[in-house]
Amino acid sequence: SLLDVVVNNEIDLDGFGACEGTLTCSTCHLILPKDVYDALPDKPTDEEMDMLDLAYELSETSRLGCQVI
Ligand code: FES
Repeated sequence: SLLDVVVNNEIDLDGFGACEGTLTCSTCHLILPKDVYDALPDKPTDEEMDMLDLAYELSETSRLGCQVI
């Protein structure tokens, strides 16, 4: 996932991925360019959408980084 990319490359994003991908936070919220969003093979699950509802500045191309593979 994109969360794994951040963790494995020791990218310092304060607080990013606080729940370590268990879908209980929204700190991994990303706003993707529309072409990137549209090209993703999977759309958000209901569980991801529920957590996205809590994200700051939710957009039509928002995803949770821990759910994007
Ligand atoms: Fe918490 Fe993605 S890391 S929902």
